[in-house]
Amino acid sequence: MINIIRVKDYEEASDKAFEVMKDFLKPGKVLGLATGSTPLGLYARMVKDHEENKTSYADIRSFNLDEYVGLPISHPESYYAFMHRNLFDKIDIKEENAHVPSGLGDDLEAQAKKYDAMIDESPVDIQLLGIGSDGHIAFNEPGTPFNSGTHVTDLAESTIKDNCRFFDNDISKVPTQAVTQGIGTIMKARNILLIATGANKAQAVKDMIEGPIDEACPASVLQRHPNVTVIVDEAAAALLK
Ligand code: GLP
Repeated sequence: MINIIRVKDYEEASDKAFEVMKDFLKPGKVLGLATGSTPLGLYARMVKDHEENKTSYADIRSFNLDEYVGLPISHPESYYAFMHRNLFDKIDIKEENAHVPSGLGDDLEAQAKKYDAMIDESPVDIQLLGIGSDGHIAFNEPGTPFNSGTHVTDLAESTIKDNCRFFDNDISKVPTQAVTQGIGTIMKARNILLIATGANKAQAVKDMIEGPIDEACPASVLQRHPNVTVIVDEAAAALLK
């Protein structure tokens, strides 16, 4: 069941997302975290809440969705660096509890299997998601099987273009592959919170909510999940009935 919350703009979306997330910022909880521009407002609110209200992450664990293949973790656009810069370094989560899949190593598929095994041992209480303009969730591009586990994937041409802005607008600098939690992995989360803002997400939002459940729109699988909240701003909701 998809519960849709409509808000005015990005700031309101971030406020609402924090309200939902707040219930899960408790000892023992497992958070599923995401990268991209979308969660930045939420992360800023989590940091502020940690500073002002002393909300502690000392007994919270997290699993990130994805990572580029081949970028060293010291690269500012690696998702490892992104998470540390925007969240982990500003709260008291323990380094060993904040998991980001690795895009480096000799056997990425074996590492991916281990990542899924770790998640199976610590099921995710709430998975935060953004959505790609092509309907992808994490880096599960159109056509990815709904039962997929964590795996290595090629990025769609449109995703490479979308993410170019993080790499000096130089398409040749954007990695072409990523390690990503699979759609099956994401669907195991007990709750899912997806945020979509801006006009370039409007078609993907419509396909996710009103379209057929079809691998052509990876996010449409969420219609099958029992507990999904989608926060959409006016621009992203523009094509909804
Ligand atoms: C990225 C990430 C996704 C993210 C999406 C949208 O490539 N792999 O997890 O949700 O694309 O990004 P943004 O939030 O910057 O629009």
